[in-house]
Amino acid sequence: MINIRVPGTSANIGPGFDTLGLALDIYNEFRFQEIPEGIEIQGFEKEIHLEDNLIYTSMMETFREIGCRPKGVRVDVSANIPISRGLGSSASCILGGVVGANELAGSPLSREEIFKLATKIEGHPDNIAPALFGGLVVSIMEGDRILYNTVEVHKGIKFIALIPDFVLSTRRSREVLPETIDFQQGINNISRVSLLLSALSNGRFDLLRYSLEDVLHQPYRGKLIPNFFNILNKCWDMGVLGVYLSGAGPTIMCIVEEDDEKFKEEIGEYLEVLEDNWDIMELHMDLDGTRIG
Ligand code: HSE
Repeated sequence: MINIRVPGTSANIGPGFDTLGLALDIYNEFRFQEIPEGIEIQGFEKEIHLEDNLIYTSMMETFREIGCRPKGVRVDVSANIPISRGLGSSASCILGGVVGANELAGSPLSREEIFKLATKIEGHPDNIAPALFGGLVVSIMEGDRILYNTVEVHKGIKFIALIPDFVLSTRRSREVLPETIDFQQGINNISRVSLLLSALSNGRFDLLRYSLEDVLHQPYRGKLIPNFFNILNKCWDMGVLGVYLSGAGPTIMCIVEEDDEKFKEEIGEYLEVLEDNWDIMELHMDLDGTRIG
C-alpha cells in the first residue's frame, strides 16, 4: 500500500498571476495498491467518468511516460480540498495520480520530472509547485523548462478562506481575461508583486494591504462572483492584513495576524445574510508539500 498526501494551494496571491502559489494545511490523501486487474478509484465523486477523473488520467499519462503499467490499480481517496473553488483540488489530484503511478512503478521519475509532468497536465505551474514542494513558491515557464524557487515566509500570519457553495471552473474563469494589457497595468503588477514578496519574507505585513492589488485578473473574475467586491471591501474595513481571490476563484482568501480570533466571527456574521452560503476555514501554510508514506 502506498500512501500519498497532497496539500491544497492558493495561487496568484493578488498580483502574482500564474506565478505565485502557497501550500495550505488542508489535504487530499490517496492510497494506491496493485490489484489483479482493472482500475478502481474509490471515495471520489461517483458521477465522474473514469476518463474524466484527473487522478486516473494523470496516472495513465505517467504510466505512458514511464513505459510500464501494473495489471490493475486501486486508489482510495480521502478528499478534503473543496472542488473547483480555487484551492488547488485539481493540482492535488494530478499530483496524486502522477506520484502514485511513479511509486507503483518503482520511482523512476525524480521530483523535478514529476513537477514537469504534472505541470504539463495542469497547464501552468503555480498550484503544482507549492502542492509538490510546500511553502510559498515562485514558478515560471521558460520554453519547455519550468523554473521555481521557494520563498521563506516570516512567522505571524494565518489564512482565512471564505468558500462559497457555488463552483467556478478555471476554464470559465480564464475565458473572461483580457488578451492584452497596457504598460501601466504591467507596472502595477510588477511593482506590487515585488513589494508582496519582500513584505512576506521580512514580516512587513503592514505592506500587504498595498501589495495585493491586482489589475490582471481580479477585476474580471470578480464580476463572476456574487458580492465579490462587497466582501473584499468589508474585509478591508474589518482590518485584515490582506485579501485576494484565491487562484481562479471563487474562494476569497484573507490574511490575518496569527493570534486574530475576532475576524472569523465578524466576517461570518456578515456572510450569513448574503444569498449564497459561505464556509469559513482557518488555514496555515504547509511546508511539507507532497508526502509519501
Ligand atoms: N493561475 C491560475 C489562474 C490558477 O488564475 O487561472 C488556477 O488554476
